[in-house]
Amino acid sequence: MILSIESSCDDSSIAITEIATKKLLYHKKISQEAEHSVYGGVVPELASRLHVIGLPEVLKGALVYLNKLKAVAVTNQPGLAVTLNEGLMMAKTIATLQNIPLIPVHHLKGHIYSLFVEKEVIMPMLVLLISGGHTQVIRVESFEHMEILASSIDDSVGESFDKVAKMMGLGYPGGPLIEALAKAGDEDKFNLPVPMRNSPLIAFSLSGLKNAVRLEIKKLRGHTQMSKQDKSDLCASFQKAVKLHLLQKSKKIFAKESIKDFALVGGASANLYLRDAYEKLCNEFNKKMHTAPLEYCSDNAAMIGRYAIDAYYYGALYTPNEVKVKVTKKQQNNTLL
Ligand code: KG4
Ligand code: ZN
Repeated sequence: MILSIESSCDDSSIAITEIATKKLLYHKKISQEAEHSVYGGVVPELASRLHVIGLPEVLKGALVYLNKLKAVAVTNQPGLAVTLNEGLMMAKTIATLQNIPLIPVHHLKGHIYSLFVEKEVIMPMLVLLISGGHTQVIRVESFEHMEILASSIDDSVGESFDKVAKMMGLGYPGGPLIEALAKAGDEDKFNLPVPMRNSPLIAFSLSGLKNAVRLEIKKLRGHTQMSKQDKSDLCASFQKAVKLHLLQKSKKIFAKESIKDFALVGGASANLYLRDAYEKLCNEFNKKMHTAPLEYCSDNAAMIGRYAIDAYYYGALYTPNEVKVKVTKKQQNNTLL
């Protein structure tokens, strides 16, 4: 069995996965959403302190499997350095005490494997990953070969939902709040720009759209002066512009890539409005659409454990001293907020 740990942002999660059967024997997660909601985004230092409490709590139920473990898997990148470290410290301690190897897991690869929890992998596959930290189209050829075909040049999809929700005083995380409000809204009420509509670049950008939303809120004299209907209409119009942007760029990729299987993964892939739009696009391009069950869309240790099974078979095993948290400049600046 493999014990897997996820703490890259604001979820403390641990899973136990059986290697031979891929069965998920234990999975628990504590989300910190309520604690961060008052700040309108994740506060890294607070997240780190909450993992110190959350991780040992979710570990309790996994302890009965301790002597059956063959490895400990842990997310070591990308994410918030201070929260990744909490998971890594716990992973190193367990691996050292049990004298078993560590499997470092790239969080985004984990999201791709959310599709395969308790299942066989489907590859090659074209994947659109939309999370709080990233927007990427990835061509997944095999466990070892995953190529990024397009990425965001500024705010990710989840991040833009979070920032727009914050501007409207809605709370955190913004995605589910905006999706819910948008249901009662008129998506044609506000004429928001579809980002990069006339650009030949195959990339994603949402900061301009976010700014357009900010200006609409200003015209309405701030979010405190907006009616519930104004908010619903603005949420619906924003969500529509995000959809049109994603679809426009995805179409260009679909036209070039012959891979039949397509998947939407990451926290924002829980959005049913976006899922529905991609179902239609896949029908148009004769592709088969895949999504993970809603419980595995946002950050969780089950997907980390599923990736770790393949890593185990590939022999991607390390001693505790060899594994470090890896952060890029953006993450060092803690710009997940
Ligand atoms: O994958 P995830 O749990 O964490 C990262 O790896 O970043 O994604 C979290 C993000 C948040 O920004 C949240 O607002 C967004 O996913 N999200 C949604 C929805 N549910 C969660 N965005 C749009 N619509 C949703 N229904
Ligand atoms: Zn994630």
